[in-house]
Amino acid sequence: MKTIRDIADGIADKRVLMRVDFNVPMDKKNGEITNDLRIRNALPTIQFAVDAGAKVILMSHLGRPDGEKRPELSLEKVAVRLGEIAECNVKFAPDCVGDEARDAVDKLQSGEILMLENLRFHSEEKDNDPEFARELSKLGDFYVNDAFGTAHRAHASTEGVAQFLPSVAGFLIEKEVEYLEKALAAPERPFVAIMGGAKVSDKIEAIRNILKKADALLIGGAMAYTFLKYQGISTGNSMVEEDKLSLAGELLDEYGEKIVLPTDHLCAADINDDPEVESVGKHIPDGLIGLDIGPETAKLYAERIRNAKLVTWNGPMGYFELEAFAGGTRSVARAVAQCEGISIIGGGETAESIEQLDLQDNVSHISTGGGACLDYLAGKTLPGIAALQD
Ligand code: 3PG
Repeated sequence: MKTIRDIADGIADKRVLMRVDFNVPMDKKNGEITNDLRIRNALPTIQFAVDAGAKVILMSHLGRPDGEKRPELSLEKVAVRLGEIAECNVKFAPDCVGDEARDAVDKLQSGEILMLENLRFHSEEKDNDPEFARELSKLGDFYVNDAFGTAHRAHASTEGVAQFLPSVAGFLIEKEVEYLEKALAAPERPFVAIMGGAKVSDKIEAIRNILKKADALLIGGAMAYTFLKYQGISTGNSMVEEDKLSLAGELLDEYGEKIVLPTDHLCAADINDDPEVESVGKHIPDGLIGLDIGPETAKLYAERIRNAKLVTWNGPMGYFELEAFAGGTRSVARAVAQCEGISIIGGGETAESIEQLDLQDNVSHISTGGGACLDYLAGKTLPGIAALQD
């Protein structure tokens, strides 16, 4: 894969059209950015282009406006935050195509940064419309994709535009691929994978691929109950995907020795802000919902994780939004941080739980992609990466 390093000599005074993933979380009430990690992670590539004397034109999506111009999903605020982080003035164009975008690009000086408005205000972006991709491509002389978090989407700005311009990867994509390849190509052993979250169906392909490579797969979150139910263990009123029981069975039959499931649970009769927590053993009685791994499981998982040479982790161990059921996820987070081997954390909620404990400096790599990271671990080709030059 070619990177921006390979074109460094040719980008002075040229327009570098860069796709970044600035789909940052925002406070629903006041619209403030609640986590700017994705902006910070894109900075090395942006800075590199600026230092090389390029005119840097950034494009991104924010949220899912479905082709509608929605002011609360404007990237203007993100441009301001980028300016604060990069300590420079970031210009902003109120559209990503058309006269306003073209004028803003024409006025851009070498070494300056321009942020275009949300790509998804145009439905053509998600449709990967070739005409829209061509319009975008007219804004640049080179295309750099550094939006790892969106690389699993074949959209106009991630895939289509690469057909029209010399196209290379940024440093973030390079780093993400390097770490994920460590897990998939020649993993250090023991390789312990951890998967959590609500549904087996969301992660089935990643689970299957990881099971081929890992020495053990520790399962937590509600998805564990589908596996436990297949084994004939009572799951009470816990969430079970009945239509995925046979799939869980297939995986247990084929990889049973590698799959590690909770042996105790924290439960409640219903989910509310002040739940009455009950700690139970292997079987969950009727009337109770399993909402977190229990202390025995947390200890067992932590031991396996600490002794691993390579750990990958995607998805929480329980209903961690409620403090009463956040303990299992935190215990796994601490163990991952203590592991002396390589640790790779999937984006989204998993990254959040590491950051909440301020353990981000104790892990090898936190992916900026949730879905993209899972697709990569599932062995899929990411269209945004496949479109780049090698
Ligand atoms: C993400 O946050 O996972 C990426 O930015 C992709 O967003 P999307 O799921 O709306 O395509």
